[in-house]
Amino acid sequence: MVRIYLGIGSNLKNRRENIRKALALLKDNKIRLRKLSRIIETDPVGGPKQGKFLNAVLEADTNLRPRKLLDTLKNIEKQLGRKKTVRFGPRTIDLDILLYDRAIINSKELIVPHPRMNERDFVLRPLREIAPNIVIPNNKMKTVKKISRIQEIAGDLKKRGKTIGFVPTMGYLHEGHLALMRQAKKDCDVSIISIFVNPTQFGPHEDFKKYPRDLKRDEKLARLAGVDVIFYPSVKEMYPEQYLTYVNVEEITKGLCGASRLGHFKGVATIVSKLFNIVQPDIAYFGQKDAQQVKVIQQMTRDLNIPVKIKMMPIVRETDGLAMSSRNKYLSPQERDDAAVLSESLRKARQMIESGVSSSPAIIAHIKDLIKTKKNAKIDYVACVDFNTLKPVNKIHKNTLIALAVWVGKTRLIDNIIVK
Ligand code: PAF
Repeated sequence: MVRIYLGIGSNLKNRRENIRKALALLKDNKIRLRKLSRIIETDPVGGPKQGKFLNAVLEADTNLRPRKLLDTLKNIEKQLGRKKTVRFGPRTIDLDILLYDRAIINSKELIVPHPRMNERDFVLRPLREIAPNIVIPNNKMKTVKKISRIQEIAGDLKKRGKTIGFVPTMGYLHEGHLALMRQAKKDCDVSIISIFVNPTQFGPHEDFKKYPRDLKRDEKLARLAGVDVIFYPSVKEMYPEQYLTYVNVEEITKGLCGASRLGHFKGVATIVSKLFNIVQPDIAYFGQKDAQQVKVIQQMTRDLNIPVKIKMMPIVRETDGLAMSSRNKYLSPQERDDAAVLSESLRKARQMIESGVSSSPAIIAHIKDLIKTKKNAKIDYVACVDFNTLKPVNKIHKNTLIALAVWVGKTRLIDNIIVK
């Protein structure tokens, strides 16, 4: 069974009766109605002068394939006396496929999501009423490579008073990124993401060259998450010849990942400040997995007076607890199994704290002991720090960040929890 959303409308004869009959015919045709929005009266959009419409949106389940579903809806329209007239003309009944599961269909006969649904309040309002959290895949998503073009787009949005939600990424998207994108779409009028594997945040012996890249796959996932624009610049576009300016956030970049990845946060702060200047977001979204990165970016935007709100979103995990990361792709099956020890040790630490242990050294020792049981795992660091200052704490208190970095085989993974 597939979840579908249909738009239903009528502006001829007995409009309410037409809708009732159409619903009965849908049922006869193996389309199982789950929810129906309120029926609202709306002005016609386009076409000749005509009467007002009654409109609704319905959620249903069906086994019909998209093409078959389209034929079925057309048949029902015919049975209820719909005549072919001019485009956007009056109709006894109008049945539109708005969404077919999470499919994106662009054939000659059928475009799904419905190409005009985002512009139509009489679709969006009833749809939100029956499916408040729905993310509408965006079949008009753009991929932009040039800084000048994305600046033009952002400038135009600003002029029109639209808010921009921004998710910077290095691509090879996973559910963690997609959760940020969905949130951006929920909070703001327009969502922009960047995909850029930033060379300046990788050390000379790190994985810049082999970092996974797959734009086609990322475009598909971003479109499903409702993203409006992907900014996908080249290295030359972001760092042309004679590039000389870097942003260095002090103090809070010295410990944790900053200690083992020299220069990493300088690269992050530089690229993120450039992206903020280019995209001009109202809100930017980052995952808690990179908790130190979030702190660095918050500090940087404050110190440089960049007018953007930073939103940190929870870590998204695999079913066994492993924090989602593009680098998980590097793990062999055995390493993948062993990698679950990171989140498992943090889970145990949380239990210890809940049962009254508050000594950081005791917690750290326990985490280390657990990780050492996996022969593929080599600890880089385990630390308890204050999440405001990122300074080590001896006693765990509210807002302590317990963070770790562990090599599993040749892959360096990080994870953390914040004590509430
Ligand atoms: O978290 C990341 O993927 C990167 O560090 C970021 C923020 C996109 C900057 O390159």
